Amino acid sequence: MSDFDLELKQLRKVYPGGTIAVEDFDLQVSRGEFISFVGPSGCGKTTTLRMIAGLESITSGDLFIRGRNFTHIPTEQRPTATIFQNYAIFPHMTVRENIEFGLMVRKLSSAEIKRRVDAMIDKLELGDVADQKEGVLSGGQKQRLALGRGLVTEPDILLLDEPLGALDANLRKSIQEELKILQRELGITFVFVTHAQAEALSMGDRVVVMNAGRVEQISAPFELYTRPKSPFVARFIGRNKIISGRLVRSDGTTAEIATEFGALRGVPSFSGGDAGNSAMAVVPSEYVDVYTTGAEAAEDGLDVVAGRVTAYDPVGQVAFIAVTLKDGTEVRLETYREKVHGRGIEPGSEVELRWRPERTTIVLDAA
Ligand SMILES: Nc1ncnc2c1ncn2[C@@H]1O[C@H](COP(=O)(O)OP(=O)(O)OP(=O)(O)O)[C@@H](O)[C@H]1O
Ligand SMILES: [Mg+2]
Repeated sequence: MSDFDLELKQLRKVYPGGTIAVEDFDLQVSRGEFISFVGPSGCGKTTTLRMIAGLESITSGDLFIRGRNFTHIPTEQRPTATIFQNYAIFPHMTVRENIEFGLMVRKLSSAEIKRRVDAMIDKLELGDVADQKEGVLSGGQKQRLALGRGLVTEPDILLLDEPLGALDANLRKSIQEELKILQRELGITFVFVTHAQAEALSMGDRVVVMNAGRVEQISAPFELYTRPKSPFVARFIGRNKIISGRLVRSDGTTAEIATEFGALRGVPSFSGGDAGNSAMAVVPSEYVDVYTTGAEAAEDGLDVVAGRVTAYDPVGQVAFIAVTLKDGTEVRLETYREKVHGRGIEPGSEVELRWRPERTTIVLDAA
């Protein structure tokens, strides 16, 4: 038995019209892992999910589930279930009939069907609406019904394509939490597609960032945020401060770039790299501190960039600060008000942004 529930090897999809939707996709997913796919519209998330489900043919490469090669096995013989954004609930059937459907197709005994469906209705708290049809269900109930229909088949892997996209923000948040708890409880591998960066990071044990059919980075959320491996990821994850420059040196553990704000240091995301290569310093905004220029000397070893405050907006405990650097870029920070209290920060103040260089990642621009 393989250590991995799901393994993709050099997966590639070319649609009949010639569009290369997915290329060079390698991934290994452990049993019970919650993996998110995130990336801009058209980057190949749904195509990859549909190849795993067997709803789309695989142009080349291999797909393994629990060590067995499923590349050319039809969808109904795969141990996967899929939940789509629109849920695809049958409107003429009751909640119970919708959940039964997948088991009827599989020709299970009626006693087994009843046992599983009752348990699922119970687990998802759909008892009150078990004999109702889609029309009267709330957004959350529809979402749970869609889940129930997938889970009742006892798949090894549950595939979810933007399953929360149709929900309003509050419901979305609470269902995110429910989904995560349910997944831990069941111990089933979830592959969860979303184009919402925050959702991918809060849900996934690991996150696959895709761009134009290719994998940019596969990392745990914290690492993705603090140690981006490419300019695309650094920008996509948001809230990062990015300053461009040219590589001065890198020894594999620390790197320095020359920028118009002076030298900046950080941990390189690459090995090698030649002096003069176009590169960027990426600093998560949580690590950036703001001081009024000249008021307090910087601690030794910090990197410092000067700017001018263009907005200061205290809201309750939190303060939003916008600082414009001399090249015109605006850096937005969110900090505790208490932390900057008494530093004389107000619109127009000359300030210094300071941070520890070991928090910075130095990323090379694509050649
Ligand atoms: N059936 C199809 N035939 C031809 N091209 C397709 C087909 N389905 C998708 N594509 C193309 O393949 C690429 C990847 O599409 P895909 O639907 O996988 O993206 P996605 O990441 O799921 O995007 P979104 O966030 O908008 O759902 C796009 O360029 C798309 O136009
Ligand atoms: Mg899609």
